Amino acid sequence: MKDNHKKQSIIIQSPARINIIGEHTDYNDGFVLPAAIDKNMVIRLKRNETPHIAKVTATNLNESFTFDLKSFSRINAGWQNYIMGVVHELQKLGGKMSGFDAEFEGNIPIGGGMSSSAALECSLAYSLNVLFELGFNKAQLIKASQLAEHNFVGIKCGIMDQFASMMGKKDRVMLLDCRSLAYSYYPLELGDYQLLLLNSNVSHTLASSEYNTRRAECEEGVGFLKKVFPEMTNLRDVSPEQLVSLKEKMPEQIFRRCRHVVSENQRVLAATKALSEGKLDILGQLIYQSHFSLQTDYEVSCPELDYLVQQTQDKDYILGSRMMGGGFGGCTINIIKKSRTKEFVAKISEAYQQQFGIDLTPYNISIEDGTGEIFSTNKN
Ligand code: GLA
Repeated sequence: MKDNHKKQSIIIQSPARINIIGEHTDYNDGFVLPAAIDKNMVIRLKRNETPHIAKVTATNLNESFTFDLKSFSRINAGWQNYIMGVVHELQKLGGKMSGFDAEFEGNIPIGGGMSSSAALECSLAYSLNVLFELGFNKAQLIKASQLAEHNFVGIKCGIMDQFASMMGKKDRVMLLDCRSLAYSYYPLELGDYQLLLLNSNVSHTLASSEYNTRRAECEEGVGFLKKVFPEMTNLRDVSPEQLVSLKEKMPEQIFRRCRHVVSENQRVLAATKALSEGKLDILGQLIYQSHFSLQTDYEVSCPELDYLVQQTQDKDYILGSRMMGGGFGGCTINIIKKSRTKEFVAKISEAYQQQFGIDLTPYNISIEDGTGEIFSTNKN
C-alpha cells in the first residue's frame, strides 16, 4: 500500500556557477565571489517499489546504473561516483532512504569550469532530503555534496561550487568566507558592460591530479610558515609581508603557490569593494591580475586560456578577463561592453579556430537563484 502522505516524486533544479574572482582560495579558508547562473542540472526523483534499490539514469549520456543502498562502493571512475558519494554522505549523517529512481538531465557543459559536478551533487542531495524528509539543512547538504567529491570522486575540492549552486540568488554575486561560511550578497551592476564566458572547449587531463597537488603544496607552505608563525592554521592567516619575510625559508615553487593564494584573497576583498562602489575599471584590473597569478604563480592555466585572455588585453571595451574555475581548460570570464560583444565574439572565435583548430563557445549568462524545487507530488 502506498502511503499517500509521503511525497512520491519531485523535480529539482541545481545551477552551474561562475566565479568573478577568488580561485583556489576556498580550500585555503579564503574568500570567493561566485554566483549561480542560468545553466542547470535537473533531477526527477521518485520512490520506487523496492526497499533499497536505486536506479539512476543520466539522460544526456544515455547511461543507467543500479545500486543497492545497503551495499555499494566507489568505482574506478565515472559519474556514478558522484551519485553514490552523495548517498553515502547523507547516510553517514543518519539519513534513511528507501529505493528510488532518479533521472538527470542538464545543459551545463562538462569540463567547462562551471561546476556541472557540484550541480549534480547538490540536486541529488537536495531532492533526497525533500523526498525522504531527511531533515537536513542547506549547510549540511552543501557539506555532504563536497565530501561526496572528496571520498568517492577523489578530488579534494573546496566548498565554493556546492555553496554557490545551493545558495545562489538572482542578480547577486556572493562574497563567501570559506572559513566561517559567512556570506553576503552584492548586486552585480555592470551598467553598459556584461559578463561573457568563452569556453575554450579543452579540458586537460591534468585537472584532477594537479588540483590535489596544489592543495598539498599549500599545506606544505603552511608547514613552513607555522615554524615562524605558530598561531596560523591556514594561508588565510598570512599577510603578504609575513609571506615575503619567509621567502628564503621555503622552496621557490611552494612560495609562488602561497603568493597566489595570499594575493588572491586580497584581490577578492578589493574586487568586492570596487564592485559595490561601481568602480568597474578597478574590478577589471583585479580580474586580470588574478589570471596572471593563476598562470605564473599557481600554474593552473593552459595555452588556450592564456591566448583567450591575451586577445582581450588591447581592447579598451573589455575591462577584465581571466580563467575561471579549477583550470587546465574550461572557460574564461570577461567583462565586456555590451555593444561590442557580438563583434568581439566573431573576431575571437575565428582567431581561436586559426590558432588551435578548435571551436570556441560563447555564453551570455544571467545570474539566477540556487538549487530549488520545480515540482513535487504525493501521487505516484
Ligand atoms: C574547482 C573546485 C572549487 C575551487 C575551484 C578553484 O572548481 O571544485 O572548490 O577550488 O576549482 O577556485
